[in-house]
Amino acid sequence: METNKILGAIILALLLIAMFSKVGDLLIHPEFPEQTAYKIDVPEDTSSNASSEETVDPFESLPEIIPMLAMASLENGEKLSKKCATCHSFDKGGANKVGPNMWNLINRTKGSVDGFAYSAALVEFGGEWSYSELNKFLLKPKKYIKGTKMNYNGLKKDSDRADIILWLRSLSDNPAPLN
Ligand code: HEC
Repeated sequence: METNKILGAIILALLLIAMFSKVGDLLIHPEFPEQTAYKIDVPEDTSSNASSEETVDPFESLPEIIPMLAMASLENGEKLSKKCATCHSFDKGGANKVGPNMWNLINRTKGSVDGFAYSAALVEFGGEWSYSELNKFLLKPKKYIKGTKMNYNGLKKDSDRADIILWLRSLSDNPAPLN
């Protein structure tokens, strides 16, 4: 009788263990699909991030422009401005040409020269021509402001953009502070 009870208890214990592990499996199993769904989401996220970064990155990864202005060459900036002069005048009160006049450009509201017919894209882009905005726009105008009328590929060299931005800054009775 005693041994039967003990055997019975052992069998009951084994049954309970088996049941619990089944229940455990059931409890764990529903988590599996969730986990794999998660795991699929993660690579998707990073891959879509990676591809959007490729288009956004050229502008976000530019070196800070302000420290570069301190080392920039006004002389080279003036030389480079010849690339813009077919479309832009630079003198005070100068006429708009294919593009708007550039006098007093720094910190000016985008698309605000009187009498110039800007693209909707540029006006809607909004904000002011800070040094860093110019740095991004002049890198690749048509990529930075999609739909701009400015038909110019841009200045690839960081130092060239710094040089021309320093020169553009000088086109004012009261040049903006260098910070
Ligand atoms: C082929 C003609 C052309 C050339 C070359 C050109 N631009 Fe432009 N630029 C334009 C036009 C057109 C616009 C107006 C864009 C719009 O409305 O979308 C413009 C707009 C701009 C603006 C915005 C001005 C504002 O009032 O909001 C800046 C800044 C600018 N150009 C700088 C330059 C610089 C610097 C260069 C030379 C490195 C240059 N551009 C070369 C045609 C040109």
